Amino acid sequence: MTDSQEIAVMLAQAQQAKQQAYAPYSRFAVGACLRTEQGRHYCGANMENASYGLSVCAEAGALLAMVVQGERRVTDVVIVSDAPGFCPPCGACRQRLLEFAHPQLTIHLFDQQGGYQALSMVELFPFPFDNSLLK
Ligand code: THU
Repeated sequence: MTDSQEIAVMLAQAQQAKQQAYAPYSRFAVGACLRTEQGRHYCGANMENASYGLSVCAEAGALLAMVVQGERRVTDVVIVSDAPGFCPPCGACRQRLLEFAHPQLTIHLFDQQGGYQALSMVELFPFPFDNSLLK
């Protein structure tokens, strides 16, 4: 299990990434920081487009940054937004995270008031379509 000090570092990194979000249409900035089983961190922020449907979530950006470094296993993800409450990953990002999820993947949500919630992949996505069905 990843210690709380490292999660605090990831929170700061996710907040920093969020500041770089390109979200002129929704004005809803999101930042994500992933930790891999190698112990490296990868961040992403959402990137919107004038053609709204092309927008990319923060989690997707962070996963791609991880993949291009050759890593495939995520142990933790921290997600933050500018909204007052928590920002749980959208349905599509739950599916994206599942693809690279360590069996013990923990999703750490922080709100703006210091609130914190940790969830497992099963809690967040209990009945998924996964690659075991393709084998
Ligand atoms: N967004 C994310 O980046 N991650 C999520 O899991 C939820 C939604 C972004 C997409 C869009 O740019 C904005 O938040 C509003 O939906």
